[in-house]
Amino acid sequence: MERTLFERLGGIGAITAVVEDFRDRVAGDDRINLKFARTDLARLTKMLIDQVCEATGGPCRYNGRSMKAAHGGMKVTKGEFNALVDDLVATLNQFKVPSSEQEELLGILGPLKSDIVEVDSNEVGTPLPDAFQPAPALMT
Ligand code: HEM
Repeated sequence: MERTLFERLGGIGAITAVVEDFRDRVAGDDRINLKFARTDLARLTKMLIDQVCEATGGPCRYNGRSMKAAHGGMKVTKGEFNALVDDLVATLNQFKVPSSEQEELLGILGPLKSDIVEVDSNEVGTPLPDAFQPAPALMT
């Protein structure tokens, strides 16, 4: 039987390393980092690991907000969404993830675009609206 994408990506250790690199890339990317000004990064990191792990067939369960709820009111533009995908591809290339697995992962995440993008514009670096309510910090 075909191995799951989770297994082919290298399991939880590799996915954790990919998410951490991606998070740091996003944090350094002026095209999108204003949106994360009030975000609890520990929560975001855990949620991204769980989401990718579950969506690729791994043993995790994502218990965060829906993509619509998480990003609603953030005024993410199409250009900002594309910038985030750029950063993800740069991370996947750095980790030498083969293009077939990259395509599979982007094929899973790409369709979430319509739940995330609120502004049909190529503009990047737009601010986080004051009214946006961040998710509560992770309880540890
Ligand atoms: C396919 C693309 C994307 C995926 C899979 C994704 C996934 C997620 C997940 C799982 C969370 C955590 C939700 C929670 O804490 O309950 C989250 C939060 C967040 N996302 Fe995304 N996201 C995507 C695109 C974007 C884009 C394009 C931006 C902005 C440029 C963005 C900005 C944020 C921010 C700022 C938060 C934290 C919100 C808060 O503090 O409550 N995301 N995202």
